[in-house]
Amino acid sequence: MSDKNSGNMPVHIGFIMDGNGRWAVKRGLPRKMGHREGAQTFRKIARYCKKIGIRYVTFYAFSTENWKRPQDEVDELMRLFNEYLDEVEEYAGENTRLVFLGDKSAFGRDMAQKMIDMEKKSADFDGMTLMLAMNYGGRDDIVHSVKKIAEMVSDKEIGLTDINESLVSSLLYTGGMPDVDLLIRPSGEKRISNFLIWQSAYAEYYFTDTLWPDFSTKELDKALKDYSSRSRRFGGV
Ligand code: IPE
Ligand code: IPE
Ligand code: MG
Repeated sequence: MSDKNSGNMPVHIGFIMDGNGRWAVKRGLPRKMGHREGAQTFRKIARYCKKIGIRYVTFYAFSTENWKRPQDEVDELMRLFNEYLDEVEEYAGENTRLVFLGDKSAFGRDMAQKMIDMEKKSADFDGMTLMLAMNYGGRDDIVHSVKKIAEMVSDKEIGLTDINESLVSSLLYTGGMPDVDLLIRPSGEKRISNFLIWQSAYAEYYFTDTLWPDFSTKELDKALKDYSSRSRRFGGV
C-alpha cells in the first residue's frame, strides 16, 4: 500500500474464502485439492494482513449450511481443519490472538477443546486478532445472542429496557470486536451467504471473480485502495 492510502485502512476485514471447489474442477482435480490450495491462500493472506497492520481479520472457513455437502467432502474439510489447527497455533506465538466464531461442539470434544485452549493461550496477545468462522452462521450467531439475553432476563439479571443494540452485539460470537469495515468475497458470487450479517450492517463490499486459491496480496492491495476511496456515511450526510 502506498503512504497516500495508509490513513484510511479498515480496522476489521472479513474474507469469505469461496471458490475452492471451482478452482479444482477447472484443473480436473478433486474438490479437496481446492480446499488444500485455499488453505495456502489463507496462510499467505493472514500473514500479510498482520504485516500491513490490520488489527482484526475474520476468515469464513465453514458455514452452518456447509454440513449439507456430501459426507466425503465434509470429512475431508474436517481433516484439513484439524491439521491446520496446529499450524494456526503458530500465529499465537506471533502475538496474534485467535478466536473461533461458531458453535465448536459440532467438531467433537477433542477438536473443540483444542480450539478453546488456543483461544485461552492467546487471549492477551494484541498484535492482531485472527478470527476463524467455523460452523458459523450469521443467523445462528444472533439466535445464540438472543438465547443468552433470554437467560439473563429470566434470571432477573437484566430487564427488558436493558436490551439494546450494544447488548446484542456484545453477546455475539464477535463480542468486544469492532464491526466489519471491509468485506471481501472472491469467486464471482455477489452474496453474503450468512457471514457476519449483523456485524456487516455498514461494511464496504469488495467482490472479485478471482477464486480464493488464486487470491493474492496484490489483489488485497487493490481492495484496500478501493476501500480507501469510498465515502462511508453511516446514514449521515
Ligand atoms: C469455499 O469453497 C470453501 C467452503 C465453503 C468450505 P467452495 O467449496 O464453496 O468452492 P466453490 O464455491 O464450490 O467453488
Ligand atoms: C460461503 O461459501 C461459505 C464459506 C466460504 C465458508 P458457500 O460456497 O457455502 O456459499 P454459497 O452456497 O455459494 O452461497
Ligand atoms: Mg462456494
